[in-house]
Amino acid sequence: MHEVHAANPGDLSGVSQQTNDIHHGKLYAAYVAKRNEVEAAQQAADDTVLGGANQIYSVWRGLKEGETFAANGMVLHEVFFSVLGGTGDPTGTEIHAAVLQQWGTWERFVAELVATGMAARGWAVLAYDPSDSKLHIYAGDAQNHGGVWGATPLLPLDVYEHAYFLDHGSDRKAYLTALLQVVNWQAVDERYLKVCC
Ligand SMILES: [Fe+2]
Repeated sequence: MHEVHAANPGDLSGVSQQTNDIHHGKLYAAYVAKRNEVEAAQQAADDTVLGGANQIYSVWRGLKEGETFAANGMVLHEVFFSVLGGTGDPTGTEIHAAVLQQWGTWERFVAELVATGMAARGWAVLAYDPSDSKLHIYAGDAQNHGGVWGATPLLPLDVYEHAYFLDHGSDRKAYLTALLQVVNWQAVDERYLKVCC
């Protein structure tokens, strides 16, 4: 059984208590519950369900689609909530140095991160990819889209409307600007150091 592990980050500047209560208490918790439900349904599936598997429509296809949507919803939200509540200042971290080495300036990195957040329909994810030992900013139009297997999400930015509409209306850029000011880069760095070297 999967359980809710991430803590509610509470009231953050630019991301309200109400948003986080709904986002954490209802939406994230629902991904965990649905992951359990879909795994149980797969274990309970009989020969008719397995034999009827079909790529156009089938019960088994629905279970498989729901499985990765729920699992990635759980994983990405857990990381998202765990790296908020900071000052937005990366000074002194290894991830800061790695970003500067790859992107040249912090401003260029932030510009690409925000642009990806504006271009994606679900997630902009700073990840470490062991396939080339580099950082990447990946874009996901859904939770089970756009990821690269083996890469570790370090800073996933949730850009679904539920993450910002209460606080910023349709102004996603204002949300991203506010969100980056409460990133805990020390927590991001801890995740980076576990996988990078
Ligand atoms: Fe979300």
